[in-house]
Amino acid sequence: KYKMILDLDTGIDDALAIAYALATPESELIGIVSSYGNVLVERAAQNSLNLLELLGHKEVPVFTGLSHSSTTSHFEVMPISAQIHGVNGVGEVALKKASRPVEKMNGVDFLIESAHTYKKDLIIVPTGPLTNLAAAINKDPSIVDLIGNVTLMGGALTVPGNVTPVTEANINQDPIAANQVFRSNLNLTMVGLDVTTRTLLTTNETSTWRALATTAGEKYADIVDYYIEAYKVTSPHLGGCALHDPLAVAVAVEPSLVSTLDLNMKVDTKAPFAGRTIGDETRINLPATHTKVAVNVNTQKFLAEFMQSLTQLFSK
Ligand code: BDR
Ligand code: CA
Repeated sequence: KYKMILDLDTGIDDALAIAYALATPESELIGIVSSYGNVLVERAAQNSLNLLELLGHKEVPVFTGLSHSSTTSHFEVMPISAQIHGVNGVGEVALKKASRPVEKMNGVDFLIESAHTYKKDLIIVPTGPLTNLAAAINKDPSIVDLIGNVTLMGGALTVPGNVTPVTEANINQDPIAANQVFRSNLNLTMVGLDVTTRTLLTTNETSTWRALATTAGEKYADIVDYYIEAYKVTSPHLGGCALHDPLAVAVAVEPSLVSTLDLNMKVDTKAPFAGRTIGDETRINLPATHTKVAVNVNTQKFLAEFMQSLTQLFSK
């Protein structure tokens, strides 16, 4: 059984990623590292703790990661993030405060320690900026060859970005960290907007959860309905809200859900395209490629599995 670590800026689709990671039998969620992005890092950690408790999983430890990129002195939440996820990150829904605190160990050290403990059995799923993972690699470069796989939600190759015409939000928060991750020898899968904007949820699904009449079902329905409403304003062409982060979790344990291109990728770190994910021209002729870029997805299969797993989890 794989050991999974989520690195999240919890956030509504991050909240769905937590639920999916708990529900999937193929892997064990051994910890959550928090990141900044949709909310500040402390808020992300608190949201993760609250959600784990709501879902009856107090055993999963939560670690605080870095609060901003290495090139900035602090981080401020973008107005668009607050619009999509709510100021509290969970659609302004009030969640019961968790009964336990975050772990004392730093999230970066937890990533390093887990790489040494679990080696190829370890899957890391970052669904926020790549600041923590890049910092872990900087501190202990040996982990790159130890970790089984990193399946990240971020970037866009065949479609436009969602922050600028060429940049996706997670990569945009810290292009330098992302470039470091993409240019490392990590076994990497990129689950970007190319596929995540093809897996959508509507109020049809959230009504199923609400009808369960459990606290988890009702809270998750309220949280996701906020996200669905926000998508009606920001991305009306989609007809639903994008399941960005849970799709990355699903692909991590079931890679056949997507078809991929084998590439060596880079992230532009300078204007005019800072934050763009694109093929690395300096490594284009290397025989070995390091990134699998998801370009197509079996939407029906994913949605069926997603709904089945979450409905079952929320029924408890
Ligand atoms: C990504 O950005 C965040 O707002 C979401 O949680 C997701 O991880 C989508 O671009
Ligand atoms: Ca996220």
